[in-house]
Amino acid sequence: MTQPSLSLVDTDPAELAVDAIVIGLHSQPEEDGALLPAAGAESIAAAFDGKLTATLALLGASGAPGEVTKLATLGTVAAPLLIAVGLGNEPTGPAPDLETLRRGAGAAVRALAGSGTVALALPSADEDAAPVLRAVLEGALLGGYRFAGYKTKPQKNRRDPVAALQVQVPDASDETALAEVRRAEVVARAVRLTRDWVNEPPNVLRPADFADRVVAEAEGTGLEVEVLDFEQLKAGGYGGIVAVGQGSEAPPRLVKLTYTPEGVTDPKRVALVGKGITFDTGGVSIKPSAGMWEMKSDMAGAAAVASALLAIAAIKPGVAVSGYLAIAENMPSGSAYRPGDVITMFNGKRVEVFNTDAEGRMVLGDAMARACADGTDYLFEASTLTGGQVISLGKRISGLMGSDEATALVEAAGAAVGEPAWRMPLPDDVRKGMESEIADICQTNANLDRAGHMLQGGVFLREFVTEGVEWAHIDIAGPSYHTGEPNGYWTKGGTGVPIRTFLQLIDEL
Ligand code: BES
Ligand code: ZN
Ligand code: MN
Repeated sequence: MTQPSLSLVDTDPAELAVDAIVIGLHSQPEEDGALLPAAGAESIAAAFDGKLTATLALLGASGAPGEVTKLATLGTVAAPLLIAVGLGNEPTGPAPDLETLRRGAGAAVRALAGSGTVALALPSADEDAAPVLRAVLEGALLGGYRFAGYKTKPQKNRRDPVAALQVQVPDASDETALAEVRRAEVVARAVRLTRDWVNEPPNVLRPADFADRVVAEAEGTGLEVEVLDFEQLKAGGYGGIVAVGQGSEAPPRLVKLTYTPEGVTDPKRVALVGKGITFDTGGVSIKPSAGMWEMKSDMAGAAAVASALLAIAAIKPGVAVSGYLAIAENMPSGSAYRPGDVITMFNGKRVEVFNTDAEGRMVLGDAMARACADGTDYLFEASTLTGGQVISLGKRISGLMGSDEATALVEAAGAAVGEPAWRMPLPDDVRKGMESEIADICQTNANLDRAGHMLQGGVFLREFVTEGVEWAHIDIAGPSYHTGEPNGYWTKGGTGVPIRTFLQLIDEL
């Protein structure tokens, strides 16, 4: 699905001949909740001759975050339709809360589906406000996302996503602002691609299809591409990927994408690793059928890693980045791996399988060990690993485990981009509970005790990281897939989490 065109404007927003104009709206807690047009809306408020906030209040506007109020402008300003999006309480500091702004821009653009050209007169107008502008641009581009889908007939009353966005800034030829536009286009395209891949039905995107699509996207980007097929995985000793993938008629893949910066001697090396289970039935330890369809999103980590590498190839940072996608389909069959199997992993460690539904850690263990064998300073891994993540942290906050520096980096990056991750421990007693009688480690608790369920995943994955590598495991089971109504810049289905965290991390490194 194509994304809207994006441009900057620095003329009076009241005079923009667009189909709709977006302003922000605050409430003022000190003034009994009275409405206050946000920065950027001054000239529009003036055109309404002092009646704007009263009119919006009459229509029920309260300034609450994400609230959208539509108003016909009846000739007061050039655009026929005005949308006021709630941005919460009047900011106490110089800038509004970035996530509120990102969500507001997303909600407004989504509500304007059907309008061809939309202008945003949001608080992106201040000098030195690159992060504020970035939030508006990203939110606006992502809020308008829609999965193309497979309907055979065009739907009646279905309004097309906004085609063109114009964003108000003080100086539309300012180099920093233009650089933010270019970056936002790259980032939003990468998030859309992640969402598209996650939203694809699992019969359309089986392991080889997923790998092929990634390879096709990487073509001409300068990324180096390596794809290992089933035979090569067997020959290479990737016991975990082979075990999980052998139950399916669609065999597994390991895809490696490499970005090498030009003209940087001895760059920092970063590995991104993603879980790419194109469908997770649970295997022989089969899942209950209710809700199983959602396991088409079990490749969200790999989708985010692949898209991150594509974006990195365009942004061209000064660090070396490799992406590893551990791709397989987890099916029960006569050739499937079994509970009780002992599997020799890529790093030589032997794992006793207790539950074939804990397949993510099996494919990831191999991919992480391979990343370490290739040599890396940092390893960031993202996976829809455990239902325990959803139980403990919910649908917005990812679980985060790993070494001190890497987890601190992820925490900060996630907070900056609105993809929060909360650090969890890797307790000794959880590792003790995974002692195997006959192999080096059990894949889960040896008594199938689900206590510390999410932590078992992190503790297991630690076994596949080489000493000295800074590593973080991000459990995105909840945040990578949105089942509720669209909300802010989140649409139904794949969210793209944690790709913007990855890109922010690379920026910071
Ligand atoms: N892909 C699932 C985890 C998941 C659950 C992701 C819900 C998104 C939403 C994973 O492979 C899985 O099945 N995990 C098991 C692990 C258990 C068998 C140790 C789980 O969470 O129950
Ligand atoms: Zn899974
Ligand atoms: Mn599973």
